[in-house]
Amino acid sequence: MAQPALYGVVGHPVTHSLSPRIHAFWYEQLGTHAIYSALDMIEGSARDDIQALARAGFSGLNVTLPHKISAFEACSELSDAASKIGAVNTLIRKDVDQSRIWLGDNTDWTGFLWSLDRVLTQPVKNVVLIGAGGAARAVAFALKSRGMQITLLNRTVEKAKTLAEELDLDITDLTDLQNLSERCASAPLVVNTISLGHSGGKLSLPETQSGVFIDISYGVAADATLKTASENGWTTEDGLPMLIGQAADAFKLWFGVDPDRESALDAARNWLKS
Ligand code: ATR
Repeated sequence: MAQPALYGVVGHPVTHSLSPRIHAFWYEQLGTHAIYSALDMIEGSARDDIQALARAGFSGLNVTLPHKISAFEACSELSDAASKIGAVNTLIRKDVDQSRIWLGDNTDWTGFLWSLDRVLTQPVKNVVLIGAGGAARAVAFALKSRGMQITLLNRTVEKAKTLAEELDLDITDLTDLQNLSERCASAPLVVNTISLGHSGGKLSLPETQSGVFIDISYGVAADATLKTASENGWTTEDGLPMLIGQAADAFKLWFGVDPDRESALDAARNWLKS
């Protein structure tokens, strides 16, 4: 029998990652002969260690915190999106002249778009984006790809300015979090990329008539913020569809098949409950 193809997710820590379960779910559904492992990789030598996994025979990798920049540096080639976002979450192995090298891509932004399209009932021109860290970059890139005008809010305004400049965003307003309530009150769409739930914090969104709110975290990290938003009239979505979307787009890059997203999302919601 042929050897299974080797895939995995690198992170630190990585035990909490749902990626192995999501990919194994599709392997089973589609009869794909592959193995997907969680690979805990310490910081410091991550760039070299990621390159070593190509030589060791891995066909593809996903990358989670804190290694998305190391993965970017480990690649011999980059997709246009990965290069502009400045982070890699999906690696595809290429064999060139007897060498095994990584092509780096980013499916966080396309995963976010899938999640956005599931929840939006009509096109939106203006969006409030909260946060200016690594996660915000992929989301901002996605929003820009849809031609949206962005109000960017971040605790550190300088970091928001850097993000806006580097991605050449169409900015309506750029300010700190003190203005959150006022800026969100009439917004049709608000996206939060700041994870405060693990430290017991939350964002409090004001009341809305018909706003859509997406928090790209899920589980405890997003629960309190989503609950308050929902009570105040927002149509809410957590980050699980984005997670499934980025996984599906990685799967498609590796196997050329778009796996069934909705059934994986249903399964993942059940895993989180148990
Ligand atoms: P990630 O990859 O999850 O985006 P990151 O790059 O470290 O992680 O970015 C964290 C984001 O959360 C930033 O926007 C950060 O704000 P600053 O740029 O001001 O640091 C924001 N953040 C983290 N903790 C926060 C807190 N307690 N209050 C407000 N914003 C916070």
